[in-house]
Amino acid sequence: MPARKSLIHLAQFLCHGPTYHSLAMWRHPRTAAAGYDWARPELYQHIARVCERGKLDMVFFADLNYISDTYRGTMDPAIRHATQAPEHDPIPLLSFMAAVTSRIGLGATFSISHAHPFYAARLWATIDHLTRGRAAWNVVTTLNHNQSANHGEELRPADERYERAHEFIEVCRKLWASWAPDAVVMDREAGVFADPAKVHRIEHAGRFYRCRGPLNVTRSPQHGPAILQAGTSPKGRTFAARYADAIFAIQPNLAGARAYYEDIKSGTASEGREPEACKILFGIQPILGETEAHAREKQEEHNALVPLEGGMAILSGHLDFDLSKLSPDELMALRTEPELQRMQTRYRTLTGELLTVREVARRHGQSVGLLQMVGTATQVADQMEAYVDEVGGDGFMLSPIYTPGAIEEFVDLVVPELQRRGRFRCEYTGTTQRDHLMQDDVP
Ligand SMILES: Cc1cc2nc3c(=O)[nH]c(=O)nc-3n(C[C@H](O)[C@H](O)[C@H](O)COP(=O)(O)O)c2cc1C
Repeated sequence: MPARKSLIHLAQFLCHGPTYHSLAMWRHPRTAAAGYDWARPELYQHIARVCERGKLDMVFFADLNYISDTYRGTMDPAIRHATQAPEHDPIPLLSFMAAVTSRIGLGATFSISHAHPFYAARLWATIDHLTRGRAAWNVVTTLNHNQSANHGEELRPADERYERAHEFIEVCRKLWASWAPDAVVMDREAGVFADPAKVHRIEHAGRFYRCRGPLNVTRSPQHGPAILQAGTSPKGRTFAARYADAIFAIQPNLAGARAYYEDIKSGTASEGREPEACKILFGIQPILGETEAHAREKQEEHNALVPLEGGMAILSGHLDFDLSKLSPDELMALRTEPELQRMQTRYRTLTGELLTVREVARRHGQSVGLLQMVGTATQVADQMEAYVDEVGGDGFMLSPIYTPGAIEEFVDLVVPELQRRGRFRCEYTGTTQRDHLMQDDVP
C-alpha cells in the first residue's frame, strides 16, 4: 500500500503595509484597480474571513521597526520604493481580525530585542485570551542596525541575540505558568476569586533578565501563544527545534529545503520533542492564471514592475550590508562575507547556477527569495504537492503578488484542488492555533 500522504499546512503571509515580499505589490495594476488602501483595517478583516473560509492554519504578519538606510547610507530608496516600509504595527490588527473570525490562527512577529519579557508575556497571554487560543508569536531577534538605533541601542552580535532569546522565552514560559490552570475559582459564597496557593512568583535572575512575577494575566487558553520562528543560522535552528510550533523558512532550492527539513526534524528530536511538533512552512509566491501561458504572462508582468534600486535597498536592509560597495555584476558567491554567502545559498538555483549581485537583488525585490509557483490552479497544486513530498513535509507560507485578489484566487481555486486530492483539511478539527498545526489527518 502506498504511504499515506500527509496534510499540507497553509499560512497566509501579510504585512501591515503596502508591500509584502513583492515590491511591485502596491503598484500592481490589479492592486491599483482594486482601489488598494493597505491601511484600511477592514481589508485585514476581509482577508481573515477569506482565509478562514479556506480553512488555512493561520494568517501571519511579519514586522520590522525601521526604515533602512543601509543601501548607500540613505533612506531615500527605501522610502521611494516602499521596501517593507511604511509598516504599521500588526499586533492591534490581530484583535480586529479575531473579532470577525472564530477558528483561524492569528500570528504576528515581535522582536525580543527591545522589550522586557514581562511585557511580551503579558501582551501575548492577553492576545491568546482575546483570540480564544488562536495566537501565534513569531519570535525574532532584530536584523538591522536601524531598528536597534530606533530603540536607542547598538545591534548586538547574532550569537548574543539568540542567547538572549533563549532566556527571554524561558522567562515568558515561567510567567505563563505562574497561574495554575485552576487558580481562578470565583467562589462567590466563600469570597475567593482566585486561590493564592495556585499563583506563584517566578523569581527569575538570569544573565540578561530579572523578573519577580507572577504575571497579572490568568492562564491563557494555549498556556501562552503558539511559538513561531524564522531564522536559518545554527543558533536560530536550535532555538526553533527547542521552542517552535512552526517555522517560516525560505528555501527555493529543493535540495536545500530537504537538508533543512531533515536538520530541523532531527534537532527537534534531540530536544526531546516529536518531529511533528514543529511544522516547517516554506514561503512561496503563487501566481495563478487561467492557462499556463496566462500565468507566465502574469509572472513576467509582475517581475518587470520591480525596480532594481528597490531590490538593492531591501536586500541591503535584510543583510544589514551595503550592496552599493559591490559591483552589480560580480558573483555574490565569490564574496567571503558570511551574510552574503548565506544569501547566495538561498538563491542558488536547482541547476547550481551562481547569480550576480544585480540578479540576487532583483529576485529579492520580486519575492525575497520565495519560490514563485506559476500555472493554473491544478499546476500550482501539483507543484505544491511535489515540493512537500520531495522535501518531507509540512506546508507553505503563501505570499500574494497583489492585494486584494490573489489571496481570494488561491482560496477559491487551489484550496479546493488540494482538498479534492485529500491533501488539505475540509474542516478544522480543533479550535486553537496549536490544534491546527498539529492536525495531520484530513477529515
Ligand atoms: C523567513 C524569514 C522571515 C523573517 N521575518 C522577520 C520579520 O518579520 N521581522 C524581523 O525582525 N526579522 C525577521 N527575520 C529575521 C530573523 O528572525 C532573525 O532575526 C535574523 O534573520 C537572524 O536570524 P538567523 O541568523 O538565524 O537567520 C526573518 C528571517 C527569515 C529567515
